[in-house]
Amino acid sequence: MAGPIRTLVALDAGADRDAVEAVLPEVPDIELVGVTDSLDVGWQELAEGAIDAVLVGCADDADGALSFTEGVAGHYPEQAVLLLYAGSPNGLPGRALAAGAEDVVVLPITDGEPPSPAERERLSVEVQLALEKAVARRRRATAAPRVAQGRMIAVLGPKGGAGKTLVASSLAVALADAGARVVLVDLDLQFGDAGLTLGLPPAKTIYDLVTSGGSLDREKLADYFVTHHSGARVLQAPARPDQAASVHVDFVRSLFDVLRESEDWIIIDSSPGFTPEVIATIDAATDICMVGTVDAAALKNTKLGLETLELMGVDAQRIKLVLNRADSRVGITPEDVHAVTGRPADALIPSHRDVARSVNEARPIVTSQPASGPARALRALANSYLGAEARAVAPRRRLFGRGR
Ligand SMILES: Nc1ncnc2c1ncn2[C@@H]1O[C@H](COP(=O)(O)OP(=O)(O)O)[C@@H](O)[C@H]1O
Ligand SMILES: [Mg+2]
Repeated sequence: MAGPIRTLVALDAGADRDAVEAVLPEVPDIELVGVTDSLDVGWQELAEGAIDAVLVGCADDADGALSFTEGVAGHYPEQAVLLLYAGSPNGLPGRALAAGAEDVVVLPITDGEPPSPAERERLSVEVQLALEKAVARRRRATAAPRVAQGRMIAVLGPKGGAGKTLVASSLAVALADAGARVVLVDLDLQFGDAGLTLGLPPAKTIYDLVTSGGSLDREKLADYFVTHHSGARVLQAPARPDQAASVHVDFVRSLFDVLRESEDWIIIDSSPGFTPEVIATIDAATDICMVGTVDAAALKNTKLGLETLELMGVDAQRIKLVLNRADSRVGITPEDVHAVTGRPADALIPSHRDVARSVNEARPIVTSQPASGPARALRALANSYLGAEARAVAPRRRLFGRGR
């Protein structure tokens, strides 16, 4: 809310100043800027700005008040005009609304008699409510349209080899396959391999984008994406590690701004740990997908990662915990995971030889081996973001408990 309603009272020639002043509300959310005895002076005051509403006092023969109303409504659409009308009921309210007034409060004709305290109170509350409603309507009508903001999933993991790229690329492919508009950004700036994993040809990278100069907008970005056959578009990581240093955090932030305005889903693959780009990613992301593996050392790191997110003030509701290489041989149960990390896993991806094969063949497992355990777990994860009914992996027990 933008502070008190700054209100100007402008009186038409025939208006009764006392009758108008008697009903002006004295409440904190309405600030009376002034009362002018002429509409012309009122017009000048309006031109000086910083006024939210004009109360036009008028009586019979309100033509001047109506053209004033029309002028304000045309020139100052952010400002609400209301009429305080004391006169014979001659259809003025309808004409006033047609001229652009937000509301008309009809004052009694008192012939110089002051209104009773009760009448005054009733009218001033009526004026107050009319003002509040009118200004709220104007503010809504003239507010800048909300920029569409895409969902941004940051795929993080404390260690290399955990499965971040598997998860990020699978999410991008599964969401695109479901018809969503998706961009995958490989922010593993030194050793990013999302493009390779998806079998994309070497093409322009984020490094080329940074060094191209000029301002960043969606049209320009489009030239730097490579489109996977699922429909997901990918902004690839620099081709060589030494190029990573050119990709500054400020650039990454403005990239996120542009992407969030133009895309439905932005998936970020990242490098291990909390580098400056990863921190900027966490700040901009709507969702965090923390990927860890199931062994004692990795679980400790995952727990530290989750604690770091908590210290950064990330709402736990925004985080999903994904455990990769989760299978019966590791001797750690879902309960152990819960006990160590303080939360249950949202998805469990089993180890599977087809994962490595799909990566080597650059055919994403979610679409090339859709019936495999990892593909089902990864699709369920994607569905959980889409809001579709999706249990992460069912039944969880079996994944860990088989053979015990
Ligand atoms: N569930 C899994 N089963 C078998 N191999 C996997 C699994 N998850 C990942 N891998 C393999 O492990 C390697 C590292 O995975 P990757 O997603 O690149 O990790 P990160 O991006 O975290 O470094 C890849 O070669 C991948 O094929
Ligand atoms: Mg990776």
